[in-house]
Amino acid sequence: MSDTNFPTHVAIVMDGNGRWAKKRHLPRVIGHQAGMKALERTIDNAKDLGIRYLSVYAFSTENWKRAHSEVQGLMGLFRYYLQGKIEKMHRKRARIRFVGKMDVFPDDIREIVAVAEEKTRHNEDIDVIVCTNYGGRQEILDAVQKIVESGNKGPFTEDMLRAYLYAPDVPDPDLLIRTGGEFRISNFWLWQSAYTEYYFSDLYWPDFDKSELERALVSYAGRERRYGTA
Ligand code: IPE
Ligand code: IPE
Ligand code: MG
Repeated sequence: MSDTNFPTHVAIVMDGNGRWAKKRHLPRVIGHQAGMKALERTIDNAKDLGIRYLSVYAFSTENWKRAHSEVQGLMGLFRYYLQGKIEKMHRKRARIRFVGKMDVFPDDIREIVAVAEEKTRHNEDIDVIVCTNYGGRQEILDAVQKIVESGNKGPFTEDMLRAYLYAPDVPDPDLLIRTGGEFRISNFWLWQSAYTEYYFSDLYWPDFDKSELERALVSYAGRERRYGTA
């Protein structure tokens, strides 16, 4: 595959944990636990395949509407995995970044997040962008708010607005994979996905593996991106 046929940034909507658990008559949180393992595996696979940026949708601004017990279960997993896996990520030369409105999380989680980001900030093999309490509409609103607060009177260009997004240095996703069989974006990377290629997988996220990632890459490699040109 030539470089233009290989994505620099792969984004993933990790969907289907609940249905994976339901199929096995297990609680939803067990599905999320299996989802964490799939994420760990996917980071390894993405690095091995040479993907430079991997972003994953871990928790949306709308996911607070779920049962308190499920949200608490997710927070618990988040804590456990963050604390337990930072060292491993660091050894893999992965830079971990969190994107979203992190200020709503308890102090201890924000502390672990800050430590993880600081420790791995100079790693250059792969950037792993974990979108947590992320919403594309919220991100655009936050950018507008920051522009107003900065007193910037324009001109209002795309580049100017982009500079106020959560991770302006991260290139737009080239390929967005959604597992779980749904064909929707659910408020992920709204600004950034204007020309992103999509790959929808019927697999539930905990079943996502290297061969499905490779299938997505092969599908991507066969596409022609035109950006509005003839
Ligand atoms: C995705 O899996 C994980 C999160 C949204 C946190 P779901 O929990 O949405 O799984 P389904 O869609 O109910 O199967
Ligand atoms: C999208 O999945 C959010 C994450 C994977 C974190 P959802 O399960 O929340 O999306 P909808 O509700 O099916 O659109
Ligand atoms: Mg879902």
